[in-house]
Amino acid sequence: NRDARAVTASRPFTVIGHRGARGHAPENTLLSIDTAIRLGADWVEIDVQHHDGELWLMHDLTLDRTTNGRGLLTAHPAAALRRLDAGDGEGIPTLAEALDLIEQRVGVNVELKSWNGCANAVAACLREYIADGWPAERFLVSSFHLPELWEFKQLLPEVPLGALYCGVPLDWAGLAAELGAQTLNISDEFVDARLIADAHARGLALYVYTVNDETRLRTLWQMGVDGVFTDYPDRALAAVGSE
Ligand code: G3P
Ligand code: CA
Repeated sequence: NRDARAVTASRPFTVIGHRGARGHAPENTLLSIDTAIRLGADWVEIDVQHHDGELWLMHDLTLDRTTNGRGLLTAHPAAALRRLDAGDGEGIPTLAEALDLIEQRVGVNVELKSWNGCANAVAACLREYIADGWPAERFLVSSFHLPELWEFKQLLPEVPLGALYCGVPLDWAGLAAELGAQTLNISDEFVDARLIADAHARGLALYVYTVNDETRLRTLWQMGVDGVFTDYPDRALAAVGSE
């Protein structure tokens, strides 16, 4: 897919499988990640929470929406979490299980979803994989909770950071600069030509979430956006490949 796009696309467009490929498989499962890779995603994005000595791939604070469990993830010991079904017979994977599956085939955006030692545990985990030969730049660590991201930066500064915002804070550029972020990760509703130009002028790549409509994917690419988070990596590839 990359080769095909190198011929048709005039510049890189990073297709990031959102929670794996959640349009095709249960989100944040190994099946979802594997599906994103099979469909040709360049990167996968996964949500990570720290609890009971493990890093779990889970978006919500509670288990109810995505698993057959009930209540807060943090109310259950690791042994109980391991027995849950996260859809299609898939378990809730740990970060290490996800990285072992990925085997450097795609870049990995780890979104820190909890603030209870998550930065520390993710840094310890990624440090091991980097020591094993993973290039640090094949990781991107992001969080809506910028203090957690700041803590991660102190622990493992060689890993690139994504400044992730749910709106566009007045001082988004200052915060991103202070973090030394490489990417600005913004919701689609806030993207316009000025923001794209501003991000680029500041040396930031602009990644947009979560975009599933093929026409919109194509428009964003034509506007100069650098990458998208999508539940359907196949649609993003088709949108760019048809240019
Ligand atoms: O990182 C982009 C996107 O995943 C952020 O929103 O709620 O899907 O984690 P959410
Ligand atoms: Ca996420």
